[in-house]
Amino acid sequence: MSRRSLIQAAGVSPLLAQSDAKASVNDRIQVGMIGTGARAQELMQALLALPGVEIVAVVDAYKGRAQRAIERTGGRAKAYANHHDLLAQKSIDAVVVATPDHWHRQLVLDAFESGKDVYCEKPLTYRSADGLDIIRAARERNRILQVGSQGMSSAVQQKAKEMIRAGRLGRITIIRAAYNRNTASGAWIYPIPPDASPQTVNWEMFLGPAPKRAFSLERFFRWRCFEDYSGGIATDLFVHLCTTIHYLMDAKAPAKVVAMGELYRWKDGRDVPDTLNAILEYPEGFVVNLSSTFNNQSSSEGSFQFLGTEGSLTIGDGLTFRAENAIEDNRWIVDSWPTQLEEAYYKDPKVRQAEVPESWPQKAAAASEQYNQRGIDTTVPHMANWLASIRTRKPYWEDATAGHRAAACAHMVNRSAKERRLVEWDYTKDDMKV
Ligand SMILES: NC(=O)c1ccc[n+]([C@@H]2O[C@H](COP(=O)([O-])OP(=O)(O)OC[C@H]3O[C@@H](n4cnc5c(N)ncnc54)[C@H](O)[C@@H]3O)[C@@H](O)[C@H]2O)c1
Repeated sequence: MSRRSLIQAAGVSPLLAQSDAKASVNDRIQVGMIGTGARAQELMQALLALPGVEIVAVVDAYKGRAQRAIERTGGRAKAYANHHDLLAQKSIDAVVVATPDHWHRQLVLDAFESGKDVYCEKPLTYRSADGLDIIRAARERNRILQVGSQGMSSAVQQKAKEMIRAGRLGRITIIRAAYNRNTASGAWIYPIPPDASPQTVNWEMFLGPAPKRAFSLERFFRWRCFEDYSGGIATDLFVHLCTTIHYLMDAKAPAKVVAMGELYRWKDGRDVPDTLNAILEYPEGFVVNLSSTFNNQSSSEGSFQFLGTEGSLTIGDGLTFRAENAIEDNRWIVDSWPTQLEEAYYKDPKVRQAEVPESWPQKAAAASEQYNQRGIDTTVPHMANWLASIRTRKPYWEDATAGHRAAACAHMVNRSAKERRLVEWDYTKDDMKV
């Protein structure tokens, strides 16, 4: 796809594309990549598809990934020994933080300190309280921060937001969301590059604020399996679900959370569950069921059901709306009454209107609508929104506060599962109760 068609397909504002097309080379936003692993390389592809931006610097704890990142820029980006050296470059306007989660807080704060705007991958935080530090620092330093749950920038979720806002679903009181997989790769057992060794992997740089441990390629390349660096399913997957739910429902944070997790199958030394279920109750008047297993993939990746009194919205790659078709039917009850009373019941005009079968076909014909958007990488519009914020200084919806609250849901889920108790939100602190 050409750059132009990618931008058009991604639904990026023509204004943004146009204004950037006119910008001189010096107006280009200069970006540094901190962490150039699997996700960062996708983010780079998205940035390379957008006008008005240039990737000028990279740093990674494994040589092979820094090398691949430089190749992606046609040799134009420069590799730095560590994030401090990269952040010291005055010409860099903004950085992408795409390291394992335990590094996010420190890297975001260091980037703010050196005057950079930031795109931080989800989950924004490794611990809930990190979020408040990041929100405060962003405000004090007047920095733009956008978090990387790109789904909310997709055309499908924008459409879902419109439908919910217009009241098409009626009153939504329950939302079900799931992430199911059934492969080793889905369970984060990624292949380890054959040249990985203490010569090519900077173990101390990877560990950073995490507990000291002996060199381990499994920990380095499959860090999601270990609590020292990740919150497992909750911080890797539920955080995406919560971001979307908060966005679509205009919700802040759940008042109460209960969860249970179990490791049934992938017993490879990991210390996080492969099956996790949670219930989150929101003061806005709805409840969320989150569910994930790595032992069956029958419900697809990142799927949602928003269930309302007037309709249901199923969201995955596409979106399906089905109007509710609920019909009062008391036949089996009234059939137990004396015949005379049953006959009288069905003579009542109100009952006839609500319960007599002739009115059913009309209701049954109620609308079902589908909206599909395939083959478009939603990271492109999400990145375009970040670049627009950097230019306008107006934060996008998925800012530090949104990122903090979505990640905090994941931390509440993990705490509840671990401590076998209900975990609550403290709305005065905007953080979970400890
Ligand atoms: N938005 C999404 O859909 C999505 C998808 C995948 C991953 N992610 C997120 O992206 C982040 C990275 O995940 P990944 O799958 O790319 O992991 P990864 O292991 O492939 O990449 C992480 C990279 O960070 C590097 N690194 C570690 N410490 C570093 C440091 N101090 N300085 C510089 N580099 C350092 C590692 O060498 C590694 O190459 C995580 O936060 C993850 O949750 C988001």
